[in-house]
Order: sequence, then structure tokens, then C-alpha cells
Amino acid sequence: MHVSRLSRSWTAYVCFLSLVCLFIAPAVTVKHNDFKTCSQSGFCKRNRAYADHALELSSWEAPYKILPDSTSFKDGQLQAIILKTINEQGDTVRLPVTVSFLQSGVARVTVDEEKRQKGDIELRHNSQVRKERCNEAEKWAIVGGTALDKGAEVAFSDKTQTTVKYGPDAKFEAVVHFAPFSVDFRRDGNSHVKLNDHGLLNMEHWRPKIDKPEPEKKEGEADGGEAEGEKKEEEPKGEDESTWWEEKFGGNTDSKPRGPESIGLDISFVGYDHVFGIPEHTGPLSLKETRGGEGNYEEPYRLYNADVFEYILDSPMTLYGAIPFMQAHKKDSSVGVFWLNGAETWVDITKDKGSKNPLAIGTSSKTTTNTHWISESGLLDVFVFLGPTPQDLTKSYGELTGTTAMPQEFAIGYHQCRWNYVSDDDVKDVDRKMDKFKIPYDVIWLDIEYTDGKKYFTWDGNMFKDPIGMGKQLDASGRKLVTIIDPHIKNENDYSVVSQLKSKDLAVHNKDNDIYEGWCWPGSSHWVDCFNPEAIKWWKSLFQYSAFQGTMENTWVWNDMNEPSVFNGPEVTMPKDNIHHGGWEHRDIHNINGMTFHNATYEALLSRKKGELRRPFVLTRSFFSGSQRIGAMWTGDNQASWDHLGASIPMILAQGISGFPFAGADVGGFFGNPDADLQVRWYQAGAFYPFFRGHAHIDSRRREPYLIGEPYTGMVTSALRLRYSLLPSWYTAFYQAHKEGSPIVRPMFYTNPEDEGGLAVDDQMFVGNTGLLVKPIVEQDKESTDIYIPDSEVYYDYFTYEIISTSKGKKSTVSAPLDKIPLLMQGGHIFPRRDRPRRSTALMKWDDYTLVVTLPKAGGKAEGELYTDDGDSFDFEKGQYIHRKFVLDGNKLSSKDFEARDTKSIKAGEWLKNMKKVTVDKIIVVGAPASWAGKEEVTVTGTGADGKTSWTAQVDYTAAAKGKAAFAVVRRVGAAIGEDWNISFD
Ligand SMILES: *[C@@H]1O[C@H](CO)[C@@H](O)[C@H](O)[C@H]1NC(C)=O
Ligand SMILES: *[C@@H]1O[C@H](CO)[C@@H](O)[C@H](O)[C@H]1NC(C)=O
Repeated sequence: MHVSRLSRSWTAYVCFLSLVCLFIAPAVTVKHNDFKTCSQSGFCKRNRAYADHALELSSWEAPYKILPDSTSFKDGQLQAIILKTINEQGDTVRLPVTVSFLQSGVARVTVDEEKRQKGDIELRHNSQVRKERCNEAEKWAIVGGTALDKGAEVAFSDKTQTTVKYGPDAKFEAVVHFAPFSVDFRRDGNSHVKLNDHGLLNMEHWRPKIDKPEPEKKEGEADGGEAEGEKKEEEPKGEDESTWWEEKFGGNTDSKPRGPESIGLDISFVGYDHVFGIPEHTGPLSLKETRGGEGNYEEPYRLYNADVFEYILDSPMTLYGAIPFMQAHKKDSSVGVFWLNGAETWVDITKDKGSKNPLAIGTSSKTTTNTHWISESGLLDVFVFLGPTPQDLTKSYGELTGTTAMPQEFAIGYHQCRWNYVSDDDVKDVDRKMDKFKIPYDVIWLDIEYTDGKKYFTWDGNMFKDPIGMGKQLDASGRKLVTIIDPHIKNENDYSVVSQLKSKDLAVHNKDNDIYEGWCWPGSSHWVDCFNPEAIKWWKSLFQYSAFQGTMENTWVWNDMNEPSVFNGPEVTMPKDNIHHGGWEHRDIHNINGMTFHNATYEALLSRKKGELRRPFVLTRSFFSGSQRIGAMWTGDNQASWDHLGASIPMILAQGISGFPFAGADVGGFFGNPDADLQVRWYQAGAFYPFFRGHAHIDSRRREPYLIGEPYTGMVTSALRLRYSLLPSWYTAFYQAHKEGSPIVRPMFYTNPEDEGGLAVDDQMFVGNTGLLVKPIVEQDKESTDIYIPDSEVYYDYFTYEIISTSKGKKSTVSAPLDKIPLLMQGGHIFPRRDRPRRSTALMKWDDYTLVVTLPKAGGKAEGELYTDDGDSFDFEKGQYIHRKFVLDGNKLSSKDFEARDTKSIKAGEWLKNMKKVTVDKIIVVGAPASWAGKEEVTVTGTGADGKTSWTAQVDYTAAAKGKAAFAVVRRVGAAIGEDWNISFD
């Protein structure tokens, strides 16, 4: 939930002071004035001006040159010194550069500043912060994949450049030009990614502040920022000093103890028309240009985690989380960059239509997408991925930053949330009603009002008299409770949590290095500093069952407001000159902050009880690269409107391709009151979000699914049941994400990179590799939709088995009255379901499976998989899981271990033992061949009940009719799910 009435009124007050604001503000939702535009953010403005200057001059020569004699190459690493010329006299500063070639085929370019490495600078205002450029991002984001490629070698070198061959079969090349410094990354002889091709590299080096005499002013008046109207005698090219030393915004002055220190770099994707990624933003999956022009944005995409009240759609404005990973795609080729920086970052995007560069031979597209990356501080640290497939990108990125944690199985069921369930009786009542109406759900959530006066780790004693009784009722049907815990700790006497926080000195400090105090939900608050290992240790102690009384094994946690949201701070967050553990300024690590808090909570849940090792479930609002290792995210405070429903699809797709696929939007919309149609459509869409939660604002009407009324409640229930029956397929997709870094719901370019027409399609998605293709309806009164078909395969309607008659690159109109989700099955797949309707995932644990087989177009094979484990512990890491590969080839359907393990030799723990009784009960073959007509029995060989090894099962064949595919249903198959089996349709 969000900044709210409190900050709204605070903003209103500020607005009131400004008459202009009064006239402008009512037209828009988001309080634009709360957030900076590029021109209000000094370093962004300076770097854009630098770019304008450089791009205007045909004679522009970037002032960065590698000193040829400084280069060395060893063990997959090129090192050199870049000299930056800083004035007309030719003075230079030294910037050490390292180009690392990693075994994964990823290259990494890191540039630092020698003077700051050595601590040879002076800080202003007697500041106690670190002198180095911040290198903390790596510590939090990177978990592997950095082993150097010892096979990388210098293929050519002279006084002007060095070329290194690297990557798989040495197909990649990095051409490092010395003067000016630039790097051209090539694959198979063609340029794909170029760094500093346009000469926008800008590393603002440290310099002392020289106070110039200001004759027009009397002493004292200059205090607090360079006067805007002040004319500088000589302004270095593209440099505007007015924001170097102090900046004011929203009543706050940033003291900038280190002065200007931003980094900027242009990165060109040669021959690519589409770039994707860098969440979190609203707007299309294929990112827009940002330098104006029709249909384009005027502002760069911004990454500065913030609590954006009533965010707007189709905007490059920042939101709650930041993943600075961008991919470029064209037909049959994908490349990417990961800009590892935890500070505020802006990215400009422009596209060069038509080939400006006559030397760009061999590129299929004439468009080049130019990007300009601008961060406020830190190292220049960029990873370059040369693909060539989308899968290569997500896999390599996953190796670096980690992959999705295997979730608790319940976490992919349905979550029922509201700000707020007012009492334990209220929770118990909702729980009973969901059962009464036979609506499945797994988790009920408590927002901030459950606490005693917004003091986390406490309960409102009047309203929640018996939290354990509540927890036990939920547990009776295997359900869970999630309670919110935020990073702001109420500053109040006699609250032991804040006393400990203070006495142990574990809170974030202000610029004077005293404890920082700001406003959030509880009023005056302090913020736990989870960059501090001691703070993590302390945080763990708070979640012990003995400490957080009223919680039990089925209590899990939601971390909100961790951007961090500070109601009275600049841009609703902390001042940038606040100080964190290790002496880093908040400026340096702002975008990582939310992840460190999420991480601390994860670690705390992992250690609630000695000997109890269960996968934590923690939802976060704020995130950074690496947050996927910890839990799920949601897209924050959306609105109950059709356009917000529509916007959720590209947002979730963007999360998926950016390594953090466990994502969802608040179903129904947070603010406002959705009508029945919107609720139905939103549940239908939500059934295809990896994270599926209904949530509502405190001022909205109650809207638990049973309250909508018939026929809508029935429609919502059907959508929920569909989700539950497909849980085995979802869980399998999560496992793939965990293993490979792959998205859980996948856009067309990911599954069909060869299909140019589908590259930018972002309103439909595949579920894992099941071949299930969904296009949720996101418009009112719409009774049909056109689904884009990205290949030449046959597609069947999920519900009717109707054959979709269209061809590759065309759209197929699918009817979709309010009770129907447009859902297709691509031919050539086998996906698992559990069809028995149950109240929760826990109750489905030992249910038998259904396999759905969709025959491909022309006599090919159908293939699929199932992954399952106990859904709770880490035993799967020790082989306690079932992973099957199913293949239908001609008349034979088989199941064998996906990884060709000798499953008989695995010592079965309790879960695996129990699974011996779980079978494949039913098999549905859609598009069954005509030759099966009249067949009554099939032969099964494998392991059945009572140890039999060969038996028959009944099959019913339904012939094709009226555009519908033939299908066969095998019943009572009875083959153990974890064992090998064959079924013969001969
Ligand atoms: C949380 O942070 C600690 C300290 O950096 C780290 O050791 C741990 O691996 C992190 N946990 C996760 C799940 O990333
Ligand atoms: C299934 O068929 C394959 C190949 O025809 C055979 O090798 C395997 O042993 C069979 N498995 C069972 C359980 O019958």
C-alpha cells in the first residue's frame, strides 16, 4: 500500500503555497511535482546537455583516451588507464579500466577513478562518508558467473586498439579503441553493441570546490545553492556547475559532500529496432524513444525506487523497483547490457532509422537503437551480453544475479488481501465464506492496521485478541497468513524494537551521522539499515516465534514501503546525503536499499526456529537486480480501471525477461471500486500472473470474490479453479525459472525470436513451455479478441478444442464472452494438471494428475514436463523431487526422468515415499489421430498399484466435428507419477 492521506495532505499543503500548482495539479493523478524531471535532477540535466553538445558538433572528440603503454592482458582480463582531459591546458585525470571476459561469454567493462580509489580527495562539510566511488552494488547483486574466460585472447593489438576474441568458439570479439576510448562488441564479425560510439562517456571526476568571489552578493546570501540566474564567466563545454555542489528539491537541500560524480555512457545496439527491460515502468514492453517527437516520451526512463502515489500509465517515470538490465532484439538475434549501479539512473533511448553507418554491413535491420545511461555516482560497471538467443541472455543474467527462488507451493496459489482485515474474527469469517462459496485460496493477508499503533511485531490487542487461534483455523485447511512488516520503526518511548534499534545503532544515519528521523505510517520513525550485517542479525531475532508472538509456522511476511518511502523526504524517500553502514551515502545505494531489507526478512524467516528449514515467502514492493533470489514482487498501488488492468500485462512480461518473474499486479486494482465486469476480467488475467493476489485500498468497498454476486462470483471461481488445476504446470515453470533464469510468463519474442512481426507484441503470453497462450481481455464490453499467432503450429482453444484457423504472423479472432478467458493450446505439448477442485494447494498435495497432450501439426512429437517436490523445504536440493519428461511419438506415450537420473537409486524421504501412491489418472489427447477411432483400450507398462507392470486402461475417442479437433481421453491410467511408464495406442 501506499503513501496516502498523510502525504496527500502534506503535498496539498505544499501545493497550496504555490498558486500555479493549484491550477495544474487537479488534472493529473500522480503528484508530478513530487518527482524530478531530468532537468530538475542536476546530473541528468548535465549529462543530457553534454550529449546535446557532443551530438551537435560534427568535430566532437570525446576527451577519454587509453594510454597505449598502460594496457596489459592476462587471464581473460584487459587492464589499462584511461586519461580524461579536463581542460584546455591538457590536464588529465586517470581512470583505470578493466575489461573482463567471463566464461559465460559475457564481457564486463569497469571504469574507476584513481584518485578516489586512493582516497586522495577531500570531502566537504567534514562529511564522514567514503571517498571511493561506490562499488557496493556488486556485493548485493552478483552471486556468480564472474569466473574469467582464460581462453580469451588478444587477436590483434597496436598503438590504437586491442582486439580480444572470446566467448563460445571464440565467436565474440571486443575491439577496444584507444582514442577516444570505445568498445565495439562483435559477433560473427558484425558489430552488435558499441560503448561510447557517440562519445557521450562522461565520468565527472572529483574536484575541489573553488569558491569564486561573488561580487553581486552580500555575505550570507549565497547560502544554500548556486543562484540560478548567476552567469558564469566561462562555462566549460556542456558543463553546468550550478548543480555541482548543492541541489534543492521539495524543501530539501542535498549537501553533496563529494561534489559532482556522475557517470554517463552511450550504448548503441547496432541494427536493432527493439529494446526491452529496465523495469519498473508502465508503458509498452518495447521501450519508447525518450527525446520527444510524435508518440515518444520527452523524459528518459528513470530508475530511482520511489513510492509513486497514483502512478500514471504509459510513462518513463520511475516506480518502486529498478533492474538496470536492457535487451535488444531483432529477428533471430538478441543482445543485452546490465548496468550495475545502485544510484539514481536515467536512460535515454533514440532510434536511428535508416543506416547512418554505411559500414554496418550484414545487419538485417537498418535501425540502430542508441541508449544513453546516466547514473549519479558509483563505478561505471557494465556487462555486455551477445546472445544470440533471448534464452542466452536470461541464462547469463541469471548466472550473475541469481535466479528465482523456488517458491513455497502455496505462494503460487491465490492470495486474498485487503487493507485491512480488521480483526481476527474478520479473517476467520472471510476464511469460512471462501469455503462456503467453494472458492479456492491459500493465503490471507494483513496490512498495517493489525499492529498496535503501526508498531511492527505487535498486534492490536482489541482487534486481534487471538492471532494464534486465527492461525490455527487457517492451518486446518493448509492456509497461511501474511503479515506486513515495513522498514520504518516507530519512534516512540516504551517500544522495545525502537529502543534496541537505537541502542545497538542499527538505523540509517543522517548527513551529520546521527540517527535519521523521518515520517511514515507511524509518524516519526527510524529506518533499519539492512546494509549492516549486525542489523540483519538483530532483525532475525525479532522474527523468532518467541519474540514475534502470535505468529506461527504458517505466518509469512510482506515487505512494503522499502524504497524506502519517507512521507516528508525528498521525492517521498530519504535524503541522498543520509549515511548507511560502511560509510556509503544513501545516494550511492538507494536502488539497492529495498533489496537489503527484503533480504534481511528472508534471512530472518529462514532462522525462525532451529532445525526448521523452510523456503521463506516474502513479498516486496521495492527491488533491484538479485531480488528474484529472495521472493515475489507486485506492481504496487494500481487503480481499479481497465487501463491499469491492461498495463499489468507488459509490466509483468518486462519483469519476466528481466530476471524477476515472480510478479503480479493487485487484482481488482488497489485504488477505487471495480465493477463486476472488471473484477471478472481481472481475476481471469490474474490467474495468469505468476503472483496472484487480490488487494484493495482501505477506502474501497469490500470485494472478496463471494461478495460480487452471481453470475460473477461463479466466473471468478472458474478463473481461480483454472489457476489451481494448472498449478503443476505453473510450478514446473517456476522450476525452469529457478534453474535457467527463464521468464514464467513469456512474450512472443522470447518463444519465437525468429518471428519479426511478433517482437513487440506485449498483450498476450505463454505460460512457461506448456504452449498455453493466453490473451486476457482488458477492455470493457469486449466479447472477442484477436490473438497473434507467432508460428506455423496448430493451436486449439483450451476449452472447446476448436482448431484455430490462421497462419503465422496473423491474428485469430477468439470469442470471449465474460465467462471465458481467451486461452489457446499450441500443438506439440504435454502439460500437467490436477483437476480435482480443492480449497487450497495443501489439500491437493496427494492428488492424481491429468496430462493434456496437444498433437502438433504434421505427425511430429508432443513433449512436456512435470516438476514437483514437497513445495516447502529445501530437500529438493538433495534430489527429493520428481521431474518427468513426457513424449508422445506416434502411438506411444512415455514418461521418463527428465534428467535421466537413476530414480531407483535415490533414497526416498517422506515426501517421495508418499508420492509413490500418486498417479497419472487421466490423459487427454487433443488432436488425436483418426486411426485411434474405435479404440477402447490402451496398454500401459510401468509401475501400477499392487506392483503390476502391465495393464490396460479405457480410452474414449471423440471424432473431429465442426472445426473442433478430435480428442481421446484415457481414464484410470493408474501409472505412478514418479516412475517410468509407456502407453501404447497401437
Ligand atoms: C542476504 O544478504 C547476506 C549478506 O550480504 C548474504 O550473505 C545472503 O546471501 C543474502 N541472502 C539472499 C537470499 O540473497
Ligand atoms: C518404455 O519403452 C522404452 C522404449 O520402447 C523402453 O526402453 C522402456 O523400458 C519402456 N519402459 C517401461 C516402463 O516399460
